[in-house]
Amino acid sequence: MELKIFSGTANRPLAEDICRELGVPLGNALIGTFKNGETRVKIEEHVRGADVFVIQPTSSPGDHNIMELLIMIDALMRASAGRITAVVPYYGYAKQEKKTSGREPISAKLVANLIVTAGANRVVAVDLHAPAIQGFFDIPVDNLTAIPILAESLRTYDPHHIVVVSPDSGGVARATQFNDRIGAGLAFIAKQRPEPDVATVLNVVGNVRGKTAIIVDDMISTGGTLVEAAGRLCELGAKEVMAYAVHPVLAGNATELIAQSNLTRVVVTNTIPVPPEDRNGKITVINIAWLIAEAIRRIHEGTSVSALFQATHFRQEPLI
Ligand code: R5P
Repeated sequence: MELKIFSGTANRPLAEDICRELGVPLGNALIGTFKNGETRVKIEEHVRGADVFVIQPTSSPGDHNIMELLIMIDALMRASAGRITAVVPYYGYAKQEKKTSGREPISAKLVANLIVTAGANRVVAVDLHAPAIQGFFDIPVDNLTAIPILAESLRTYDPHHIVVVSPDSGGVARATQFNDRIGAGLAFIAKQRPEPDVATVLNVVGNVRGKTAIIVDDMISTGGTLVEAAGRLCELGAKEVMAYAVHPVLAGNATELIAQSNLTRVVVTNTIPVPPEDRNGKITVINIAWLIAEAIRRIHEGTSVSALFQATHFRQEPLI
């Protein structure tokens, strides 16, 4: 089967970097909007029998980007693509993966149903907010992780001076995975959400005094979790606070909040594009195109994707 890569409009620079890594051209597709606001897609090259990957994080504007992804998959399916893989580096709606009170939807499952119904044969994601979301799909899902890549830059630091912090109990496994590559101490925060998009730190479990605290999270949305956590860690005597997070959702005024906070460094990946003006002194973006490209190569060739994460060193390329 011929390998073909297409991109929606959500993160074309990432798709271009992935194609560069793979040495294949980006597929030619028209993606636009009709005058009535509906999404218009036309695949402009033949895909019959091809092994097609569609790159589209479902980041903001999430509903629009989901619709673009679904319509692209539909067009490829009707054009007789041999296999269609939805590459969703950031899976939106992931925080709505369970009911927390009555009469709420499980939107992460609904989106999974839509992707499968549109005609996807498999999915590639990066650090799903909840790994159980893989089970929402009755097709194969490769949930890649950028955590070892993020941890790479700290491997030269003395672990005795570092404490890796999970900003909530749900993130302890992720912080442990990060720390496995560093060998520092671990701490975690008991966080409460009195209302949606508001984070309150209740307690910090673990010793942070005199240490460089590294907060590890899957995403920065409003920035509230990070900024609250950083403030509390400083009050408890942390020498410095940095944050490493995979998905830069950066909703609302998150970038300003971070700029004004006592965080000294925030490292994210390019699963979601970060405009150059937001890549300021504090925010560094690591390009993980090579990771996604390598996963695509392995899926295409039918070799192991999990073996990719057994490497002892990972490429770490800040975006200029
Ligand atoms: C929560 O479970 C997540 O792992 C993140 O901590 C959260 O989504 C960050 O959101 P915000 O930046 O809005 O506090």
